[in-house]
Amino acid sequence: MNHDVIIALDFPAAADVYAFLDQFRDEKPFVKIGMELFYAEGPDIVRQIKARGHKIFLDLKLHDIPNTVKSAMRVLSRLDTDMVNLHAAGTIDMMRAALEGLTREDGRRPMLLAVTQLTSTSEERMQKELLISATMPETVKKYAQNAKEAGLDGVVCSPLEAALVKDACGTDFATVTPGIRFADSAADDQSRIMTPQRARRGGSDYIVVGRPITRAADPVAAYRRCVREFIGE
Ligand code: C5P
Repeated sequence: MNHDVIIALDFPAAADVYAFLDQFRDEKPFVKIGMELFYAEGPDIVRQIKARGHKIFLDLKLHDIPNTVKSAMRVLSRLDTDMVNLHAAGTIDMMRAALEGLTREDGRRPMLLAVTQLTSTSEERMQKELLISATMPETVKKYAQNAKEAGLDGVVCSPLEAALVKDACGTDFATVTPGIRFADSAADDQSRIMTPQRARRGGSDYIVVGRPITRAADPVAAYRRCVREFIGE
């Protein structure tokens, strides 16, 4: 299993992204393109960032009927991404259809990950509003098992749940975890957070880090610190 730090490019426009990435001269970080940037700039932003030599996690969290997701994944398969995701709540059938759509004719495809429960959803809201009566760990475990059964490569989850996912689905099943903060940095709006070092010890394979790097006075130094803490020298 590979391990890496993925920078969340949460910027409103391409110009901001390029200004940010231009600061990196000696390394090409793995980056995440989310809905804001993708909807603002379209698929071309993926091609442009790929042409600069970055690995890309396209974080669009698809969730629809299986046939629609399959067709959408077929379109995304033409973009040269390294990771794509969807909501496990769409069912095993939807995840299987997604995998089919994402697989190119030569059999190659990016990693496909499932979002279990968003870290912004509390157990109380999940139970009261979504009428899911199980606990949050039980739900995350079941959704991860469903994703594995559908043939997906891993899940996006809280670093607090990575160990549980590894126990339920095995060490080869990838865990990608946002909600990462340095011991001495602001929590922002994230409530369940972990340092890069603890996330690694807790079973995270990839960490997604936004503001602690993008809003740092020296983003390159912050990125290097993150890699050092997560992967070691
Ligand atoms: O700035 P910060 O490090 O909090 O950014 C985290 C990134 O991970 C954001 O792009 C956010 O949308 C994403 N994310 C998250 N929690 C999830 C899923 C995605 O924070 N459960």
